[in-house]
Amino acid sequence: METKRRKPLLICSIATATVVAIAILVAITLAFTVFKPRDPAVKIYLVGLRKLGADDLLSGRNVTTDMVIGISNQNYAGFKYANATSLVTYSDDLVVGEVPVPGGEIRARSDVNVTTSAVLIPAKLMKSRAALEEALVSKALKLKAAVMLHGTSSFCGVKVKTSVYTECHLTVVLGKVPRGESWCWSKLKIN
Ligand SMILES: *[C@@H]1O[C@H](CO)[C@@H](O)[C@H](O)[C@H]1NC(C)=O
Ligand SMILES: *[C@@H]1O[C@H](CO)[C@@H](O)[C@H](O)[C@H]1NC(C)=O
Ligand SMILES: *[C@@H]1O[C@H](CO)[C@@H](O)[C@H](O)[C@H]1NC(C)=O
Repeated sequence: METKRRKPLLICSIATATVVAIAILVAITLAFTVFKPRDPAVKIYLVGLRKLGADDLLSGRNVTTDMVIGISNQNYAGFKYANATSLVTYSDDLVVGEVPVPGGEIRARSDVNVTTSAVLIPAKLMKSRAALEEALVSKALKLKAAVMLHGTSSFCGVKVKTSVYTECHLTVVLGKVPRGESWCWSKLKIN
């Protein structure tokens, strides 16, 4: 008689344990797949670049060009970030320009285009004879723009401090109609 009464209880606990185990498994799977933090995809469009020739590099005058930074946030969390400045470098260490990145907010799973203007400072490029010669001979500028965006990610009201490091490698072919090519990579970090 005793065993008969216990059996449903046992079945019930096994069923409960199984449901809990499945729920945990689903939560872990979702955390590592669907909700896993993804690095944002960044693109650069040098929309305002009209002319950039050897004379511009030798004049010492700053070249300002409109630029659009396309950011694609594939996360289920929105990202709000503060103003930042991206330094533009030539051969990794010679700072030759800067790009102000105005603070803003990117909603979950959405794209934004941030409009800004890049300042290229040829006077700084001229500080390195080798860099200037290389640019003039190859008729191209190989630049790197890096920025660290500090902000907060929010998901269902939960806020966490996050930062996104983005590095873009740009090749600007000099000429009357300059061409720019870029590729970027980003890394999102939960602080
Ligand atoms: C070029 O831009 C830099 C940084 O914005 C500034 O410090 C410098 O004075 C500018 N130079 C000229 C010639 O406008
Ligand atoms: C961010 O930059 C904008 C101009 O681009 C300025 O008006 C604003 O005051 C800045 N915000 C902070 C917190 O520095
Ligand atoms: C951002 O700008 C690029 C180039 O102009 C365009 O192709 C893209 O659709 C824009 N994206 C958004 C979200 O406005």
